[in-house]
Amino acid sequence: MIVYLNGEFLPVESAKISVLDRGFIFGDGVYEVLPVYNGHLFRLAEHLQRLENSLQAIRLANPLSRQQWSDLLTQLVAHNHGGDQSIYLQVTRGPAKREHNFPHLIQPTVFMMSEAIQAQPPSPGVKAITCPDIRWQRCDIKAVALLANVLLRQQAVDVGAVEAILIRDGYVMEGAASNVFVVIDGITMTPPKSRYILPGITRDLILEVMQANQLPYQEVAITEAQLRSAVEIWVTSSVREILPITTLDEQTVGSGKPGPIWSQVWQLYQNYKQ
Ligand code: PDD
Repeated sequence: MIVYLNGEFLPVESAKISVLDRGFIFGDGVYEVLPVYNGHLFRLAEHLQRLENSLQAIRLANPLSRQQWSDLLTQLVAHNHGGDQSIYLQVTRGPAKREHNFPHLIQPTVFMMSEAIQAQPPSPGVKAITCPDIRWQRCDIKAVALLANVLLRQQAVDVGAVEAILIRDGYVMEGAASNVFVVIDGITMTPPKSRYILPGITRDLILEVMQANQLPYQEVAITEAQLRSAVEIWVTSSVREILPITTLDEQTVGSGKPGPIWSQVWQLYQNYKQ
């Protein structure tokens, strides 16, 4: 695997950073994950805009221009032989003496890697659990500090589920690493954007294709009780695309099979990828 680190492309085994890097010491950095389909960077502009928003939120100047990001990502994809890939990139505040406040002279660390992915067949449906949302109040920042998300996802995996759906003050927020959609009375619903959820690129694209195909949806607060009464539940991300949840906390969701609206939206999403 060829990765990019601070100006060079090199094999992953040779890529090294300082133990004083603030990403390592404090989790002081932000990241993006974006898919590549057929050698094409999927929704690149949207990912670069969200990266810019995350960097602004942590008061770190973007070390690269849009054009530079685009050029480097294109080179990274080529180094790793095109096709379908999943790119991970991160920017941290860089190495400095350990002190919580920002260091004066800063050289951010820019790292990117990419791995091949296989096109997934439609899912037969998977399990999720609900968990209290134990995260902070700036979940809109795509921060590398993911300890709460890691613990929540592991809690799900420990009981044979693939995702933890997070509940804050009685309302559904998102998954540990995904956004959440539910279908109730024929209407697809997803929580509105706020500081408590990540504005998912997949989420936005789903709403875009639904609108283009006159499928009704609402961006609206969803209670835990509504989640439990939903006939369809999906979790969405750049990595998992649109995954139907057919068991929630050991209860069957709807018919126990991926629902008809999921099938329709999944197909629209596949068409869009082409
Ligand atoms: N995570 N919410 C959270 C907390 C996430 O971590 C993610 C994605 C999403 C979905 O966003 P998008 O559709 O832009 O991928 C929502 C990535 C994939 C990860 O951490 O690996």
